[in-house]
Amino acid sequence: MNEEKKEHLWWQNGIFYQIYPRSYQDSNSDGVGDLNGIIKRLDHLKWLGISAVWISPIYPSPMADFGYDISDYTGIHPLFGSMNDFDKLLEEIHVRDMKLILDLVPNHTSDQHPWFQESKSSRDNPKRDWYIWHDAKPDGSEPNNWLASFGGSAWEWDEQTQQYYYHAFLKEQPDLNWRNPEVQKAMMDVMRFWLDKGVDGFRVDVMWHMIKDNQFRDNPINPDYESHMATYDQLLPVYSTDQPEVHEIVRMMREVLDSYDERMMIGEIYLPIQKLVTYYGVDNKGAHLPFNFMLISTPWEAKKLASAIDQYEGALPEEGWPNWVLSNHDQPRITSRVGMSQARVAAMLLLTLRGTPTIYYGDEIGMRDVPIPFDEVQDPQGLNMPDKNLSRDPARTPMQWDNTDNGGFTDAKPWLRLADNFRRENVKVQKEDTFSMLSLYKRLIELRQQEPSLHVGDYSPIYSDNQMLAFTRHAKGHQQYMVVLNLSHRPCYFKPKHFSFKGTVVLATFPEREGTVYSNTISLGGDEGILLRLDD
Ligand code: GLC
Repeated sequence: MNEEKKEHLWWQNGIFYQIYPRSYQDSNSDGVGDLNGIIKRLDHLKWLGISAVWISPIYPSPMADFGYDISDYTGIHPLFGSMNDFDKLLEEIHVRDMKLILDLVPNHTSDQHPWFQESKSSRDNPKRDWYIWHDAKPDGSEPNNWLASFGGSAWEWDEQTQQYYYHAFLKEQPDLNWRNPEVQKAMMDVMRFWLDKGVDGFRVDVMWHMIKDNQFRDNPINPDYESHMATYDQLLPVYSTDQPEVHEIVRMMREVLDSYDERMMIGEIYLPIQKLVTYYGVDNKGAHLPFNFMLISTPWEAKKLASAIDQYEGALPEEGWPNWVLSNHDQPRITSRVGMSQARVAAMLLLTLRGTPTIYYGDEIGMRDVPIPFDEVQDPQGLNMPDKNLSRDPARTPMQWDNTDNGGFTDAKPWLRLADNFRRENVKVQKEDTFSMLSLYKRLIELRQQEPSLHVGDYSPIYSDNQMLAFTRHAKGHQQYMVVLNLSHRPCYFKPKHFSFKGTVVLATFPEREGTVYSNTISLGGDEGILLRLDD
């Protein structure tokens, strides 16, 4: 895309940061993070150079899925604070010239939500059709073979009204019927409630789930299923997700956003690239950013990553803005997938690619997945499929701020244990260490935000082989940058055949490299990533 075509907006040239509110900062000594805690830590985010903060759900919820089961879309869970605290948070974020993105969970509610309580009260209740109710098959079995993401059938029998209801996740999370115009209106009103308050956008939960096949056909079996996978993966969800009509819903949500000034949505969508990019919508009137999980799903090998990046760049619609992410609250942390040394290379990749990066809290200090003893597991995905090691708790542990008790997160018993090494690995210690992960993140962010080539410039692949990948970034009228990453642990030579260069290393995963001038050949150490400013 030509970077001169139009001005870039805040969600294009900025950096997003995801907070899992239970684990960021406790301010009232109950062991659970809260809104006032986040306010206390906003200066950390500002110092780091973050532009927008996405907070996982903070609404009233029975917490069957830790807030992704909402019982009131326009309230605040007392565990996290009050609406006044929320208003204060929004104000404090805006005062610092940052943006706030809320998590919107439109696909399903809690079974305790008054809408569902009404819906299940009788077959002729006006809200009956707000959810997905079906008769049993003549033999009493479920209406079809659909499975729930967290294990077991996706259908739950309701004794009182003698029908099944559909839930893509827990039975405590019944799916709304998005084909019903009243549901559509109710959720658009929810969006307006928060947008009127000044919220800058939404991360939309499981966007590709929102509409299901209207004939409710059986899903086909997955021929590639292996027993270590979640039971959900036994079938291919071709009828239960990603239906063509979902794009109409996304477009409606977009219209609501567009009736305000510069608001945005980033959609959670786990689909292959060709499908993913359709969520930008016709004429880019869909999601501003369909979340791109390729750096999570692609094996950490140079050739595969280089190919994935180029495929994504190639699949983007004209004017579709890219985005990248390494970790989130549902996935193992990047350090635990690729190791600590490669996590530095990953940070350089995330923050030098073209498109909006999202940083998961704690990744900036290289937090690792924390082993949670069996009897402390909290995540329903872990509890429901105990033999498959699928608990998401390890990636949701409290932020490690300093070397005081509980890492400065709380002065009570934390809801989830901290990493044993929090006294060594924390924000305070790493701030003072030029070689720390935090210093690397900070410097990468600073450089990215200073240099138009890095935050809005074009991307051109240069080279990839079994060990490394390299690309350039360039905005017209600005200096060109080249990124060379060694994805392996062994040294290698970078000597591209069809690209000659001369430039100076301005940032490196091993900072000793910085200031060195190279032309046409570089010998790279294992796990080394370097960023060169090229001569004209
Ligand atoms: C999304 C959330 C995840 C949640 C699920 C059900 O995938 O990211 O945490 O469990 O939706 O709401």
